[in-house]
Amino acid sequence: MPLELCRTHFPHVAVPISKQSPLSGEVMFAGFHPRSAISRQRKKLHDVETWVFTNRRVDSDRLLSNVGDGKDKGRACIKKRPVAYTSSSISRIPISHIHTTTSTTTTSQKLLKMAATTDFQGWVAHDASAAEGNMKWGGYTPKTFEETDVELDIEMCGVCGSDIHTLRSGWGPSDYPLVVGHEIIGKVTRVGNSVTDLKVGDRVGVGAQSECCEACKPCKMTQESNCEKMTMTYNGKHSNGDKSFGGYAKVWRGPASFAVPIPEGLRSEFAAPLMCGGVTVYNPLVTYGAGPGKRVGVVGVGGLGHFALLFAKALGCDEVVALSRSSSKKDDALALGADRFIATGEDPDWASNNANSLDLIISTVSGSFPLDQYLQLLSVNGTFVQLGAPDDPLPSFSPLGLIFKNLKIAGSLIGTRAQIREMLELAKSTDLQAWVQVRPMEEANEVLKDFEKGLPKYRYVLSNVQQETESP
Ligand SMILES: NC(=O)c1ccc[n+]([C@@H]2O[C@H](COP(=O)([O-])OP(=O)(O)OC[C@H]3O[C@@H](n4cnc5c(N)ncnc54)[C@H](OP(=O)(O)O)[C@@H]3O)[C@@H](O)[C@H]2O)c1
Ligand SMILES: [Zn+2]
Ligand SMILES: [Zn+2]
Repeated sequence: MPLELCRTHFPHVAVPISKQSPLSGEVMFAGFHPRSAISRQRKKLHDVETWVFTNRRVDSDRLLSNVGDGKDKGRACIKKRPVAYTSSSISRIPISHIHTTTSTTTTSQKLLKMAATTDFQGWVAHDASAAEGNMKWGGYTPKTFEETDVELDIEMCGVCGSDIHTLRSGWGPSDYPLVVGHEIIGKVTRVGNSVTDLKVGDRVGVGAQSECCEACKPCKMTQESNCEKMTMTYNGKHSNGDKSFGGYAKVWRGPASFAVPIPEGLRSEFAAPLMCGGVTVYNPLVTYGAGPGKRVGVVGVGGLGHFALLFAKALGCDEVVALSRSSSKKDDALALGADRFIATGEDPDWASNNANSLDLIISTVSGSFPLDQYLQLLSVNGTFVQLGAPDDPLPSFSPLGLIFKNLKIAGSLIGTRAQIREMLELAKSTDLQAWVQVRPMEEANEVLKDFEKGLPKYRYVLSNVQQETESP
């Protein structure tokens, strides 16, 4: 008998079924009837009605014989009521109860579990070798969908230096299996019932943070990017206890409150790396007054560094100086807006030759560096802000350099949602062009290897939409 079902008759517990399901290619959702869910405490599971939902007509007898494996075969009860189906109606089904069903392993549970793990596909890191281009494409269990969440079809995801640190457990043991990527741009495909400011079809970005506690001191100061209980977008834990997974994947699911709308006209490949790399430099630039009257140095011409040069210029600083280990990036740095370029590896006296020439230094260096020498570059009351997060501690330095010039050493972590919005508007209004290289999501392992060789100019962006874009 032909069968089609829709959300009107949908259970509260419904999950997508994977391609590997025994109902491959035909059935999209399975779940318990709500009334049965209410009474399942009292019933044995085989009495509980299991509904199977499909987006096309299928033969219900074949469906029944396909459900389950062996002894459970044929127990599922199919609702034989033909009704219309639309994909948008199905996209809002909550699945928050899927882990609360009976403890007996049954066909229905197997279907539910399988669905929860296989609908989300991405580049999964299983150990530290993933950083060498050894991620494996496969399924993973996303956070449980809550009414405050959204789901996105990921268009693009930038490749940040932090992805590599995390993949190789550089900052301490990572929580494998994990999926990195926190420069995500995607289209909203599913919206929890409590979400009021986003709708299906919106284009949004998710950066390095995807949840905050709203209660700690930084949160109350609207400085949630320093939340004491923050959830990083990957390798973290959401407040409900579930692991967080990033954007080297097809779909992202997480709190809507950290999905920021992308202004129309700002291309996704430019917007993606702004979500972490961009806001991480934008935050200290504005916090420490980069603009007219300020001379700003940017150490490290990489992903973050190239954004720092672009933004320092866009903010109207008196002078923007790029510092890099060699002169190989000199032409690029000047093209990005630097007024001056210092190759620290090619002039043994680079620090004394440029002493007292800067008011603010933004350091994006991801390896060890001689802080003492960089402090020489600062003029009185100057500030050195460290953004790069090397795996190993820095060499010791003399406090005298700080004392004599009233210098400040600061750190800074990503940026708030307000800063992300501000930055996106600035990027749009100044037509800020990130230098990005878009590569297919399929090539993620090769992209990691190229990143480690220092090849990006200056941000790789993984794409699920397969467009080939290079800029400028
Ligand atoms: N604070 C935050 O919130 C935040 C946010 C995002 C990223 N990060 C961190 O910032 C750092 C930079 O990230 P990114 O994505 O910009 O990486 P990136 O593209 O690799 O840039 C890092 C730059 O650091 C310089 N560098 C100096 N010593 C190095 C070394 N030993 N190995 C490699 N590079 C070295 C290089 O510039 P030259 O070739 O010009 O010398 C390189 O281009 C990473 O540690 C990342 O984890 C921090
Ligand atoms: Zn990042
Ligand atoms: Zn907080």
